[in-house]
Amino acid sequence: MTFTIAIDGPAAAGKGTISKAVANKYGFAHLDTGLLYRAVGARMLDGVEPIEAARTLSQDALEASNLRTHEVAQAASKVAAIPEVREALVDFQRAFARRQGGAVLDGRDIGTVICPEAEAKLYVTASAEVRAERRFQELQGKGSDLSFDEVLAEVKERDARDSERATAPMKPAEDAVLIDTSNLSIDDAVAAAIRAIDSKHAAG
Ligand code: CDP
Ligand code: CDP
Repeated sequence: MTFTIAIDGPAAAGKGTISKAVANKYGFAHLDTGLLYRAVGARMLDGVEPIEAARTLSQDALEASNLRTHEVAQAASKVAAIPEVREALVDFQRAFARRQGGAVLDGRDIGTVICPEAEAKLYVTASAEVRAERRFQELQGKGSDLSFDEVLAEVKERDARDSERATAPMKPAEDAVLIDTSNLSIDDAVAAAIRAIDSKHAAG
């Protein structure tokens, strides 16, 4: 059995949280595709040329401990605008999407480019202020001294770069179900995702 759930949307919208809960509920494997771009971004910060870094990405690079930082997020969105970097990561993501047993992939272009044939597509979003507040809280928990305004500026800069790039820009697929989590608890956001997926599953 193959069944692909594509979950796209901007930073801190709740994609990862929803993806993990949904993968757990259906017993599917989960791939956070942002981690691929973060791993390439981290290698670029270490001085490796990004296309080369994408072509030689290893499991070790994906398990590096510094991938969740603010600097790496910015580097990720820069390397993500390079067509050859994206191209080097396509086969791995497509194979994951069609693996036996079902798969959930979250990112920016899963429903539009990586797996347009996905059985269920969600586009998870929230206002920039709400998303920045979530990231701000997470960063504070890690001891960061960035201000809310700095985090908000970073979120907006990354949104603009991700949605304005020529190759695989961030945007909802035409057949994606939109979920705005601005005023939803995590439980309510997960419930909305499961309702949307179950209705696609029943229809298919
Ligand atoms: O994967 P993505 O960057 O889209 O977001 P995430 O890592 O799932 O969520 C970012 C933060 O928002 C986490 O700290 C979640 O616990 C929180 N969150 C929330 O407060 N309310 C939601 N409805 C969804 C996520
Ligand atoms: O966790 P958060 O939503 O902040 O970011 P992420 O999902 O880890 O993605 C980091 C960066 O990778 C994004 O800002 C995008 O530039 C890029 N990305 C992408 O271009 N395509 C994807 N499928 C996933 C991430």
